[in-house]
Amino acid sequence: MKVSKDFLWGGAISAHQSEGAFQLGGKGISTMDVLGIKPDTKERGVHYPFQKDYYYPTHRSIELYHHYKEDIAMLADMGIKCFRFSIDWSRIYPMGDEAYPNEEGLRFYDAILDELEHYHIEPMITISHFEIPYHLVETYGSWKNPKMIDFYMNYCETLFQRYHKRVTYWITFNEINIVTYRPYMTTGIEPCRRDCFFMGHHQMIASAKAVIRAHEINPDMKIGAMAMYGPTYPHTCDPQNVLDAMFCDEEIYHFLDVMVRGAYSNKSKAYLQLHDLMFPITQEDEDILKKGTVDFIGFSYYMSWTTSEESALGNMGEGGKNPYLSTSPWGWQIDPIGLRISLNALYNRYQKPLFIVENGLGTMDYIEDGCIHDQERVKYMRNHIREMMKAMILDGVDVMGYLAWGCIDLISASSGEMSKRYGMIYVDLDDQGNGTRKRMKKDSFD
Ligand code: BG6
Repeated sequence: MKVSKDFLWGGAISAHQSEGAFQLGGKGISTMDVLGIKPDTKERGVHYPFQKDYYYPTHRSIELYHHYKEDIAMLADMGIKCFRFSIDWSRIYPMGDEAYPNEEGLRFYDAILDELEHYHIEPMITISHFEIPYHLVETYGSWKNPKMIDFYMNYCETLFQRYHKRVTYWITFNEINIVTYRPYMTTGIEPCRRDCFFMGHHQMIASAKAVIRAHEINPDMKIGAMAMYGPTYPHTCDPQNVLDAMFCDEEIYHFLDVMVRGAYSNKSKAYLQLHDLMFPITQEDEDILKKGTVDFIGFSYYMSWTTSEESALGNMGEGGKNPYLSTSPWGWQIDPIGLRISLNALYNRYQKPLFIVENGLGTMDYIEDGCIHDQERVKYMRNHIREMMKAMILDGVDVMGYLAWGCIDLISASSGEMSKRYGMIYVDLDDQGNGTRKRMKKDSFD
């Protein structure tokens, strides 16, 4: 089986999980920088002002800020064609509400793009990957406040004007749908469920406005949605289970329908009304959503779930256990066929190009005689890629690319751990922040 030569094989990271240097280059404090871990109890939460007895994993992370030349050279050596990274909003607008951007922050991303261009690697930028200037949360109440749309647009305008000739592929919000499961991640607050949907609405308006503006500036820019996707299977053929499973997936479509088709579905509206979760939608909102639909659908895929009451673990989502699947050491269900099912489900529904912008196995790695034999990761990726190729070749699904999550080890978004590694490049760092941060190839690198 073969894919076309334009297929975008590559890797993905985010700023807060890799850059470190949280107070260098004029960067402000972001919502991820205030998440501290208490070493003895492992309790993780917002602890700001910073406290001495807490460890803040983003503050130094793997220090990509200092190592980016070496890291991009290694990724080029690995043969990647596309590299997805996020711009940390708080590096460009340290408080979020300034009129002018921080030039030093922009220069850092100029330098990343210089390196990528040097190796002919296609960049993909995530505009917001959980990094929100903390000041916007404290002062304006985050995405509950529609003023956030203006701040976000100001930030987008800066990025689009600066990079529209250098960057074709963009994602407006990472995993936009997790606002209803793990709201802190995408908004920096933990409000009631109704406010979660309301914040999601503001984010989708912001995303649609960004699509419209990007296309005005340069119609060649391709702007994508990005959702966490994992299908839910009925755990028996009881029709009630089948219906429950179908409706679990609807919570993802609530977001993608708006971003891809430009309107809330009948099911979404009925659900919101029935559960007293509805928020005001103006005619102007509807017009913006209709006009600002995305060019492609990006999604992360790690696992599937069932409707079983016995629960299975995940990071941002939740669901039931599947007795047919094995799990990672973190309890995530490993389901390569689920990727083919997801690709078919999304393509049948939307008929728009799909982009797997995150997939990978988070597990421990051990150095033995100077080598890391991460054969489980090799098997995981081989099996997932095989199912993706079946979806493309046997099912005719249009897939633009496949990006391995955390192609270089980085800190976990959900737990702040380092021991849960995804990379094909190892970084010497432990869960308490100790280590040389030296890079090393694993078996999966080849
Ligand atoms: C996705 C996020 O949910 O999963 C990434 O977009 C994250 O930021 C990845 O790192 C893996 O999850 P975790 O919690 O193991 O880091």
